[in-house]
Amino acid sequence: MIGRLNHVAIAVPNLAAATAQYRDTLGAKVSAPQQEPDHGVTVVFIELPNTKIELLEPLGETSPIRGFLEKSPAGGIHHICYEVDDILAARDKLKDAGARVLGDGEPKIGAHGKPVLFLHPKDFNGALVELEQA
Ligand code: CO
Repeated sequence: MIGRLNHVAIAVPNLAAATAQYRDTLGAKVSAPQQEPDHGVTVVFIELPNTKIELLEPLGETSPIRGFLEKSPAGGIHHICYEVDDILAARDKLKDAGARVLGDGEPKIGAHGKPVLFLHPKDFNGALVELEQA
């Protein structure tokens, strides 16, 4: 059911510093920062030949990654995103298998303008999983 690895997201305490490191030290192609108020994050996309990295910095007081950075102040891998062809079919199959979908269970439009869902990390080996209809 899952397809390509769409991206790995890393929560960072300082987006400008992390972006400069990826651009200048690692030599990667980085985007301009993009504010995503609906998701409570500012994102920088890093284009790699085979996938993407997203650097996430909290945006707003209720940002869902604020708590993550309180527990991991240096930052850390926040989630991984797999592509699916049909997000509603994938959701229903996972729910039937007992997996918990975060939020109200309905897809939201993600940072790439495509529908996304998040799955409870306790149901996936401790990793927060995002599904994106590619
Ligand atoms: Co993501």
